Amino acid sequence: MGVRFKGWGIAVPDRVVTNEELSKTLDTSDDWIAERTGIRERRIGGSARTLGALAGKRAMDDAFVEPSDIDFLVLATTTPDRIAPATAPMVANDLGLTCPAMDVNAACSGFMYAIRTAQGLLETGNKRILVIGSEHLSRWVDWSDRNMAVLLADGAGATVLEYDPNDTDVLSFCLGADGSAADLLTCEHGGYFEMDGKEVFRRAVRVVVDSAEKALEIAGISADDLSLVIPHQANIRIIQAATQRLGIEMERAVVVLDRYGNTSSASIPLAFDDARQNGRIKPGEYALMTGFGAGMTWASAIVRWS
Ligand code: COA
Repeated sequence: MGVRFKGWGIAVPDRVVTNEELSKTLDTSDDWIAERTGIRERRIGGSARTLGALAGKRAMDDAFVEPSDIDFLVLATTTPDRIAPATAPMVANDLGLTCPAMDVNAACSGFMYAIRTAQGLLETGNKRILVIGSEHLSRWVDWSDRNMAVLLADGAGATVLEYDPNDTDVLSFCLGADGSAADLLTCEHGGYFEMDGKEVFRRAVRVVVDSAEKALEIAGISADDLSLVIPHQANIRIIQAATQRLGIEMERAVVVLDRYGNTSSASIPLAFDDARQNGRIKPGEYALMTGFGAGMTWASAIVRWS
């Protein structure tokens, strides 16, 4: 028994902010940002609610399901519109859902944590679950701080998961959290995101490699068997370092951070959507989905597309 991905959708704000534009108000440059992060432009605008609802609607349309078909909404966000209520009930209302709805906050691992949560809910009696990752990070960025302003952006992605008594698209998970690293990447109430970039970088590579290796082992396959890696989109150099240590060529990694920047829990579905649009998702093939973020949290999963 297991879970099937039935449909996907994304939403990004219309407003494009290029590195050039940021360079006009910050002591930075297109060259520095592109070379040190891989980011060239990002989307800014909307809210966790508006972007999440649009991505959710598109995923439901893609899965050919009606609001009454959805049994649960799990919405991953680090940047809810309000502390209370959670963003999920408002998104549910926008989508015409009357099912239970809750937020999950695992920072940039949020989408994978939400999928893991949905898997558990599907195995205990629910038939179909809408999982959304939606972020309005720009609201919590100090736009005069070049350390953070060049990295974070807004966006959303969603998928409809369905219970299948016979087979599964998700073969394994490896999730974790290390709260002793909590102060490395924070946003206090009423404050802005702050980060020890170098230490986050070091630990990110380590947890991605470790969790990916464990997820591969549990799934009973090797890195050579992977057709695709769909990583969290934080920094191209983190993706390069992690794939290199796993023995996977960069050609197998999906990269969209050049266009979207770091959209936290939206980044993995944004990358998935890009891979699908470009015909890189093929039935029967294996992929590694892997994320890390504030907490620190991390999450890797091996999936096989059906
Ligand atoms: N533009 C221009 N120069 C910048 C800059 C910017 N936006 N940000 C920092 N610099 C400067 C620094 O002040 C430093 O100058 P100095 O040598 O005179 O002191 C120099 O560039 C190098 O800074 P450093 O911090 O060593 O750069 P880096 O190569 O480590 O890159 C990050 C910085 C933040 C891009 C990188 O550490 C990173 O991506 N870390 C992980 C972040 C992450 O993944 N966060 C999300 C987790 S979900």
